[in-house]
Amino acid sequence: MQEYYDNNKALWNAKVPIHLDAELYNMEAFMAGESSLDKATLKHLGDVSGKKVLHLQCHFGQDTLSLARMGAKATGLDISDVAVDKARELNDTLGLDARFVCCNIFDAKDHIDEKFDIVFASFGTIIWLPELDAWADIVQHFLKPGGRFVFLDFHPVMDMLNWDTCAFEYHYFNKQEPYMEITQGTYADANADIKMKEYFWNHSLMEVIQALQKANLKMETMKEYDYSPYDIFGEMIKRSDREYTMKRMPVAFPYFYALVYSKG
Ligand SMILES: C[S@@+](CC[C@H](N)C(=O)[O-])C[C@H]1O[C@@H](n2cnc3c(N)ncnc32)[C@H](O)[C@@H]1O
Repeated sequence: MQEYYDNNKALWNAKVPIHLDAELYNMEAFMAGESSLDKATLKHLGDVSGKKVLHLQCHFGQDTLSLARMGAKATGLDISDVAVDKARELNDTLGLDARFVCCNIFDAKDHIDEKFDIVFASFGTIIWLPELDAWADIVQHFLKPGGRFVFLDFHPVMDMLNWDTCAFEYHYFNKQEPYMEITQGTYADANADIKMKEYFWNHSLMEVIQALQKANLKMETMKEYDYSPYDIFGEMIKRSDREYTMKRMPVAFPYFYALVYSKG
């Protein structure tokens, strides 16, 4: 497994400078004060002011820092040292008080010794993780009693598609062994000068829900959405503010889902 984690860490390290310049991450607007969080995420998070929030797989910190701007005591975690260094630099530049931890999510207990009101993860997270029982255990471990897990991610049906061709290519169910793709560009910049291996795993809704149930968390909300908040194909139809659909998809399609769980 370490080989896959090492590969993906190098991959994400290489993506950081590309994403800092990509339109999708719109750094200019973000630095000027615009939140990077989409409306569905904001709705499910609710009021975060004064709350301790652990943000899993935070990339270079835009969403974590957006939470800090909303008054949360935010901690971001990511395996990519380049991403975490950039997140810390942005935090200092913006004069915020977010904290960033660099580690594999599965080693988080060795690096963070606190409990949180909210554990949060969103958009492009579990696809990088081989299995979800240990993930759900991490989530429940870091929640205070009465705390909430707020999770939004691309729908597993969406993850069945080849994002370049929009054709179905991958199994809905986790086949345990990772998929390996050599990808040109990234979802935020298809023309970027990067061509690297990525290892990923698809997780059905059943797998996600069963893992969180095994971790004794209680489902409060589940919702599926018929749009993407990001133009991840670079050529999607903008149907309204931060709502994109695929040109070549003639039917209502599940782009992402939201789950909110509570810890008793
Ligand atoms: C698509 S980003 C998700 C964040 C957010 N939606 C965004 O776009 O800014 C995926 C992040 O997961 C991180 N990641 C991948 N595997 C990880 C692991 N095993 N432990 C911790 N972070 C991991 C990557 O470094 C990357 O920053």
